[in-house]
Amino acid sequence: MSTPPLASGPGGPDALRPLLATVLDALAAGVRERGGPLPAGGPDAVAARVADALGDVLPDTGDPDALHTLVQELAAGAADPADPLCTAHLHSPPLAVATAADLAASALNPSLDSWDQAPSASALEAAVARTLARTAGLADALVTTGGTESNQLALLLAREAHGGTVRLVCGANAHHSLPRAAWLLGLPDPVVIPTPDGTLDPAALDKALTAHPGPLLVAATAGTTDAGLIDPLPEIAGLCTAHGARLHIDAAYGGGLLFSDRHRDKLAGLEAAHTLTLDLHKLGWQPVAAGLLALARPHELAALHQRADYLNAEDDTEAGLPDLLGRSLRTTRRPDILKIAVTLKTLGRSGLGTLVDLVCARAREFAVLVQEHPGFELYGRPVISTVLFRPAGADDDAVAAVRRRLQHDGRAVLGRARADGRLWLKATVLNPHTRPDDLAQLLKLAELAEGNTPA
Ligand SMILES: Cc1ncc(COP(=O)(O)O)c(C=O)c1O
Repeated sequence: MSTPPLASGPGGPDALRPLLATVLDALAAGVRERGGPLPAGGPDAVAARVADALGDVLPDTGDPDALHTLVQELAAGAADPADPLCTAHLHSPPLAVATAADLAASALNPSLDSWDQAPSASALEAAVARTLARTAGLADALVTTGGTESNQLALLLAREAHGGTVRLVCGANAHHSLPRAAWLLGLPDPVVIPTPDGTLDPAALDKALTAHPGPLLVAATAGTTDAGLIDPLPEIAGLCTAHGARLHIDAAYGGGLLFSDRHRDKLAGLEAAHTLTLDLHKLGWQPVAAGLLALARPHELAALHQRADYLNAEDDTEAGLPDLLGRSLRTTRRPDILKIAVTLKTLGRSGLGTLVDLVCARAREFAVLVQEHPGFELYGRPVISTVLFRPAGADDDAVAAVRRRLQHDGRAVLGRARADGRLWLKATVLNPHTRPDDLAQLLKLAELAEGNTPA
């Protein structure tokens, strides 16, 4: 075998072109082979097909068809968020233009730990991250791998600002990554306030802030994972000010509403956050990863400062080279900002806002279908694009079985969530191409699966 070609450099585009054609053909073949939102047969069947396609993982002699074989297998065995019946998670179908931009990021492979590895990528990241932060009413933003890393950094910055005794106060509706970050960072056990209605109750928060000595970090959620609900942000912000508590808002899901003229008002109060989690691989249609942590006080980033002579020697920084190492806990770092920048510029705020409006409207339509169906119960009117529903009169085991049956048959991917003390099926509508007919089919499939599920 001759030396394999490289993706960048003068020969890169010509080397990539035929390989891209192979990838695209294999993707199409894999999607045809799957024929639905996810592969049928469950984990054993999928693992057997993968093992078959893979064969010898590290053969003595290479296989030139590996690209086609493995891409086709990955596509055939994918849970495809572009299929309107794939609605379980905050797992969005990436925009084609964002994915194309991501290819350029892979080909050029800039690494955002030093300017000499990423001259234009670092300038792009600084400008785009700041713009996104300002759109939310904050000053600057770090790029992260998603909501989890953003929440971890938020707690780290709180610890560095207030010391190791800072205690997280959050609702039971908060994402698990928040209490986990408190554990990771060695902070006191969090105060978790029950949220029987799905959102943080200001009166209960007031009580907790009164009962516990500071320093306290309140974490509110704009777009809960289970139900897409938004905590009462202005009231929470007011309480934080009154009690001298720091405020973090996890808008990993709901942050995308900022793009929409119709829905932006639901995020009133966001600008009061000291730190804010945003995540454009949810309501932003980006390929993973596309997280951000926005900050009100950029000087707090001094806590992340790190000197490594090979990356940001003091004399280099003094000579004007940007010091990038303090913008992440990671060292080598992909330019995830490129796909985000391309998406923002290609669609504009109104283009993204239209996508937000579409998925929110489809979710409301699905909720109406559920409500009008005598065989189903609706949890509540969706606030963003999550609909919780359950077969009327079914117990929790039957609800769980509906979801597993549809998944096993590869016919629909529904999520599950506990609310009201009961188990619900969850449809998170993130696909702007979803049509009303798809929603009717989703409900029909759930109905059939319920009928077919042994009691
Ligand atoms: C509210 C919220 N915060 C944080 C996260 C974690 O985000 P990621 O999976 O990108 O780490 C999620 C994931 O669903 C979420 O719903």
